[in-house]
Amino acid sequence: MKMRAAVLEQFGQPLSIEEVELTEPKRGEALVRLVACGVCHTDLYTASGADPSGYAPTVLGHEGAGVVEAVGPAVESLAVGDHVVTLFSPQCRECVHCRDERTNLCLAIREQQNKGYLPDGTTRLRRNGEEIRHFMGTSTFAEYTVMPEIALAKVSPEAPLDCACLFACGLSTGLGAAINTAKVRDGSTCVVFGAGMVGLGAVAGCRLQGAERIICVDLSSGRLELARGQGATETMIGGEDTVGRILEQTGGFGADYTFEATGNVAVMRQAVESARMGWGLATVAGVAGKGEVLDIVPRLLITGRRVAGSSFGGVKGRDGVPHLVERSLAGEIDVEPFISHRITLDDVNRGFELMEAQDGIRSVIEFN
Ligand SMILES: NC(=O)c1ccc[n+]([C@@H]2O[C@H](COP(=O)([O-])OP(=O)(O)OC[C@H]3O[C@@H](n4cnc5c(N)ncnc54)[C@H](O)[C@@H]3O)[C@@H](O)[C@H]2O)c1
Ligand SMILES: [Zn+2]
Ligand SMILES: [Zn+2]
Repeated sequence: MKMRAAVLEQFGQPLSIEEVELTEPKRGEALVRLVACGVCHTDLYTASGADPSGYAPTVLGHEGAGVVEAVGPAVESLAVGDHVVTLFSPQCRECVHCRDERTNLCLAIREQQNKGYLPDGTTRLRRNGEEIRHFMGTSTFAEYTVMPEIALAKVSPEAPLDCACLFACGLSTGLGAAINTAKVRDGSTCVVFGAGMVGLGAVAGCRLQGAERIICVDLSSGRLELARGQGATETMIGGEDTVGRILEQTGGFGADYTFEATGNVAVMRQAVESARMGWGLATVAGVAGKGEVLDIVPRLLITGRRVAGSSFGGVKGRDGVPHLVERSLAGEIDVEPFISHRITLDDVNRGFELMEAQDGIRSVIEFN
């Protein structure tokens, strides 16, 4: 079939909206009609050429939600008409990681996905006979996508798909960092560094876990206002003296749990130093630049602080995303404030511009 998609032709150039061919789903795959897709930093990171593992041409996009239109042979968990959220982090339920509750890093299709291929080592995307590679196994800046069944989370048909798409990446990452990775305890004190999609999700996750104090740190007062809306009890403009101010406000000890959602290694260090002795846990969700390192004074660890990293919030996607979507339907997570702009596929480059200008939290592409 023919469809419109936003193709990354050349790094550093605007995406080109054009007609490409999509072939039908093979064994274990499904065809999804996209209804909504968020525009995320990772898309821009690859488009800019900064990502050393990036490739072109490819169809970008990974925060998709849509409806299953067809399934290939041997697909058991999905049927035509199902509402789904796309997963760049799949869940095969069979590999050694999927069978262990300690991680969500499914091993089933990693290698091919990283190279831009579907699990059988081929692409479903083409243009004039030339293959176009898939991005993050999702390629959702397009009217349709073909994806493995194990990378699609079936969600409640009641969930509006423009909100559901945010659970495909940043929102689940933040929520999961607090709920799955840190397992924040009732009554605790938390500090969240960064009030973008991931940090705001972490604030909401801390609230859902019953945290008593949630201090959110960001450079933008507008974003800190949004953090209040998600449950932050205190806010702070970040700076070089952030750690000192946090220690001051926590009886000299620091917080039970800290979260880093900026991607800045200096802030990661602040997150570690703001965690309390004895049991303070710093969870790093931000993605640092290639080659950057995080400095930690070992004494901080000996005196009981711990550091954890969190990819996609430790969420095992096919089980966890539908559950988080249910919680949003139950009114526990307020998703609407994250959608700052609704745009069309033709406006995807404007979505990038808005993101670079830090205008709003998420631009969401709506497909008709
Ligand atoms: N671990 C994962 O699976 C995963 C998934 C998605 C995104 N990420 C990463 O998470 C990070 C955050 O993503 P996002 O979409 O929320 O980004 P974002 O750019 O929207 O938000 C980052 C926020 O950090 C704030 N900030 C910058 N410097 C600061 C400082 N010194 N002190 C306090 N706040 C500061 C900015 O003002 C901004 O609001 C990125 O590094 C992104 O790549 C990780
Ligand atoms: Zn993303
Ligand atoms: Zn697996």
